[in-house]
Amino acid sequence: MEPFDTFATQQPAVAWDQNRQDLWQRIRQYAQQRAASPTPTLKSLVEDTARNTALHVHCAGLHIDAARQNVDQTGLQLLYDLLHASSFNTWRDALFNGNPINHTEKRAVLHTALRDSDGRNHTPAPIRHTVKTCFERMSTLAQRIRTGDWTSHTGETITDVVNLGIGGSDLGPRLVVRALEPFCTIQPRVHFVANADPADISLCLDTLNPARTLFIVCSKSFTTQETLRNAERARSWLLDNLDEPDLSKHFIGVTTNLDAASAFGIAVDNCLPLWDWVGGRYSVWSAIGLSVLIAIGPEHFSDFLRGAADVDHHFQSSDAPQNAPVLLALLSFLNSNVYGAQTHAIVPYATLLEHLPSYLQQLVMESNGKSRLRNGASTSFTTSPIIWGYVGTNSQHSFHQLLHQGTHLIPVDFILPETNAFGSTQDHNTVKAHCLAQMQALLTGRDTVSALAPDANADTTLVAQHRMMSGNRPSTLITLPILDPYHLGSLIALYEHKTFVEACLWDINAYDQWGVELGKALSATLEDQLNTAPTISITDTGMSDTDKPAHDAATQASLDRLRASRS
Ligand code: F6P
Repeated sequence: MEPFDTFATQQPAVAWDQNRQDLWQRIRQYAQQRAASPTPTLKSLVEDTARNTALHVHCAGLHIDAARQNVDQTGLQLLYDLLHASSFNTWRDALFNGNPINHTEKRAVLHTALRDSDGRNHTPAPIRHTVKTCFERMSTLAQRIRTGDWTSHTGETITDVVNLGIGGSDLGPRLVVRALEPFCTIQPRVHFVANADPADISLCLDTLNPARTLFIVCSKSFTTQETLRNAERARSWLLDNLDEPDLSKHFIGVTTNLDAASAFGIAVDNCLPLWDWVGGRYSVWSAIGLSVLIAIGPEHFSDFLRGAADVDHHFQSSDAPQNAPVLLALLSFLNSNVYGAQTHAIVPYATLLEHLPSYLQQLVMESNGKSRLRNGASTSFTTSPIIWGYVGTNSQHSFHQLLHQGTHLIPVDFILPETNAFGSTQDHNTVKAHCLAQMQALLTGRDTVSALAPDANADTTLVAQHRMMSGNRPSTLITLPILDPYHLGSLIALYEHKTFVEACLWDINAYDQWGVELGKALSATLEDQLNTAPTISITDTGMSDTDKPAHDAATQASLDRLRASRS
């Protein structure tokens, strides 16, 4: 059986009204009829050039080619109808108007305000004013650091900036600074430290001069243990290596929690604000992006914001068939909920986009990895697909075997800049050819005749079976004319809105993340216990003799072993 032969056996959520239930049944029937038709395959679908044209969309300089997706106009129309029956227009207005759509935390979701400098995307005026004031402070700070006006405790200029943050306070800036390396033309260099593992900060600091290093402590909450621990390590490093340093010359904070930042010792004038209406994974546009601004400068950062703002405008004003985030979300829903795909691969054909898969993992899975509807009932649908990936062409030599011949249905987003700041045109044509070839192979596969082994001595039938590739595997091509600040901003905003549209279809809140809280709380207790010298002996079963188990038996046994191994 090939992966696309199966249909998800999903039922509509109980909260759905009759109209949505009916549309869902029609979508399922559509998929079953297509499977039973004389030309059921994706290979046959792509011969319809009118259909293919309808699956090409432009958005803020990006071009999206979804012709290799297993749907025609009839199916797309049904999916659009389902989206509109899901009160999509109302939710979209509520997002941009700043209504508290993150209802479990009673918060608005206004990352779009961070890039709406001219107000055309309907951001409320007071919020725009607040954002503008912050952006001006960010730009001034960044320019002082870039030009050497900001000097260190020893009176020297800053050569290295280290961003201390994790999750949304790390992944966005890390992605953007790496992707825009050709735009980082002047010092300082920017580094990222996130992990609680001390190797992360130690290896970074080993390469730096404390007299010329500035730390940005990025933490929306200023309570995240990993970030605070790394900030303490950075402070100790400065204290150990400089003579009674003035730490205000070496620390900037970005947070909603100014009291905690100042209790840590960051000067009030060195703190940039953040607001509860910006989710961590949507915060690269805010002062959390200060490291980006320092790396690429205010003009390029404004271009980055402009690319995102143009996607916001497109998302609000384009009719459904040409609305790029809507199209991508509908296709993702189709693959997950109709055809049963569990995962979704992201493969950028650009070394500089190497952090895009991990960035999208947080954006998509922390947003939509939920099993409750907005009203608290359990959902009966599969929600967020598992996002994973790696850069092409490297990925071709690791997991593409599974993409081509494995038993899973895995839709792939191929992301390809049309030009390259490095190498010759021919060099970049090599990259383009690989990207196109992968999509073509996924689509067309290799039939049994062409799979016949060329080696006359081989058992040709057997080897042909192994060489045969089914094809008909879906992919989407997203191209950027150039990997620059504007188009990177567009690309990120495209995925942000896609994620929002999927949440509308599933009727879930994409903006809370309660699922990460329990592990944080448990680790605090376990850390205390690991720091306590063991007074125990370990029995054959791994359980302690003397401690009363404070945990479930499996956790207690692991804890006991780790405590014993420490001693
Ligand atoms: O992992 C949970 C989370 O709250 C993310 O949503 C967030 O991006 C990250 O931790 C970091 O949080 P903070 O910026 O508050 O340190």
